[in-house]
Amino acid sequence: MGWGAIGGVLQISIAAIHRFLFPRVLFEPVKTFKAGYPEEYPKGTISTKYQGDQKVWIAHLDEGIVAISTICTHLGCTPRWLAAEDKFKCPCHGSGFTREGIHFEGPAPRPLERYRIQKAEDGRLLIDKSIIYRWEKGEWGKPGSVFIA
Ligand code: FES
Repeated sequence: MGWGAIGGVLQISIAAIHRFLFPRVLFEPVKTFKAGYPEEYPKGTISTKYQGDQKVWIAHLDEGIVAISTICTHLGCTPRWLAAEDKFKCPCHGSGFTREGIHFEGPAPRPLERYRIQKAEDGRLLIDKSIIYRWEKGEWGKPGSVFIA
């Protein structure tokens, strides 16, 4: 076997290793999901149905239906919805948030984030977690930050 053949085998091997290390596959999780029909969320309710798999609460507030991130803005723990106390309470360091997501106690530096919520063509609510609305940036009133039923 000549040097040319050895070089060729080496090139193919390097290409194969490169493809193995850097596959042409996107491993990002899906950022959108459908959360049922608006009628499933009566006014005044906080739904924890998607808390586990999507990390989202669906809240029907006075302003409309919003999708609230379950990620605490302090260090990222998951607060709990305490219906009896009408607040979200973080078990890690004690931050508390109103049903709207405003922080009012503990070390959290800012309110919870909200995600885009729209009505899909089939009538169900479509949540897009790649689009975030932050209260401190004045984004909660923007189109898409709330669904008015
Ligand atoms: S992570 Fe929630 S209060 Fe610290």
